[in-house]
Amino acid sequence: MYMKPDILLTNIGQIATLENSNKSPKCGEEMMDLSIVENGAIAIVDGVIAAVGETEYVQSQTTANPEVREISFQNMLAIPGFIDSHTHLVFAGSRENDFAMKLQGKSYMEILDAGGGILNTLKATRKATPEELYSNAFSFGTRMLERGTTTIEAKSGYGLDTNTEMKMLRAAREANNNLPAEIVSTFLGAHAIPPEYKGRTDEYVGLVIEEMIPAVGRSGLAEFCDVFCEEGVFNIEQSRRILRAAKEAGMKLKLHADEIVQLGGAELAAELNAVSADHLLMSSDEGLEEMRKAGTIATLLPATAFSLNTDYARARDMIQMGLPVAIATDFNPNCANESMFFTIALACYKMKMHPREALTASTINAAHALDRADTVGSIEVGKRADIVILDAPNPEYLAYRFGVSLVHTVIAGGNLIYTKLGP
Ligand code: NIG
Ligand code: FE
Repeated sequence: MYMKPDILLTNIGQIATLENSNKSPKCGEEMMDLSIVENGAIAIVDGVIAAVGETEYVQSQTTANPEVREISFQNMLAIPGFIDSHTHLVFAGSRENDFAMKLQGKSYMEILDAGGGILNTLKATRKATPEELYSNAFSFGTRMLERGTTTIEAKSGYGLDTNTEMKMLRAAREANNNLPAEIVSTFLGAHAIPPEYKGRTDEYVGLVIEEMIPAVGRSGLAEFCDVFCEEGVFNIEQSRRILRAAKEAGMKLKLHADEIVQLGGAELAAELNAVSADHLLMSSDEGLEEMRKAGTIATLLPATAFSLNTDYARARDMIQMGLPVAIATDFNPNCANESMFFTIALACYKMKMHPREALTASTINAAHALDRADTVGSIEVGKRADIVILDAPNPEYLAYRFGVSLVHTVIAGGNLIYTKLGP
């Protein structure tokens, strides 16, 4: 039986397929294995990958179709579209003023305590119209897509009242409907304590549990729930109560854990069987070990450490102990980084991840961190045709070059979204 592809990509120098890891994420030495095909081809039918393998093999499977769009990519590298599994995509305003304070030596928590930081973005987001929020998310998402990201997680958390949180989640849904990338939504009502609840954190936790979670649950607008579990924000007990309520309302769990202080966030994520725990700069060995046993993915965000000028997470220790690692941009108004390339460069230069490990962490492992490994994260027959072709001869090169986009062509859902003019 011959297939008639809509698009046929041929003579690709290397295809990093990342195949055969759909049941569980890659751990330890498996993170180095990208399952590379040399001189490969990919056939796409109806937005889905219909064949992948050596060019001759794929061509032997296809009939001559005068309509077929065949593109040849000598000396280039094809990878699955990046999966950015931790972003704060939806917000209004910007924080270049905080940035100036930061450069004068003020810490993240000092800026937040002074009403800046998240609270600054809160004011702008509460005031914004739904259209403004949507168009911001669309514009950031487009920039990500041009840089090879085809699946984007998006958190709420700059409204901190039921209406504004819902407004943010609706903006994310609309961006999902209109952008060629898939957007996966997370409810982060427990991102900070809003000014009207200052000094009354438990009462705010009550509002999140009794009003926001039921409203979000009924709307079906969020697949995950996340909490900023941190000293001075939500403690372990408050985070546990919120996440348990979210689980009962049908949401899967994530956690901002041990970013600034070692609070036991890694342990809590493991206890609640969270899909991922994110940041983990200060986590204890015991906490990480519990995550490994629970199958909770460690999502590392090196651009946040870069933007805060702190130490980086212990990626090498985590990989050594067999914990599955994902990496993400943490795009937010404090860390204005839309680029998975920059994130990969930091993961390698600063956390000593091998470029192959960083690519695994940005694709199939990140797909697991969003519970999407059945549909994206690798170049395999039956998966959505989210494919990025890079001006790079091999995966090592893509981390070694930094500060530029190496993207040649982006295909999302089988559609040609972007292609570089000229060689
Ligand atoms: O993941 N730390 C908490 N939340 C975000 C930052 C959000 C913000 O500063 O606006 C983070 O780093
Ligand atoms: Fe974050």
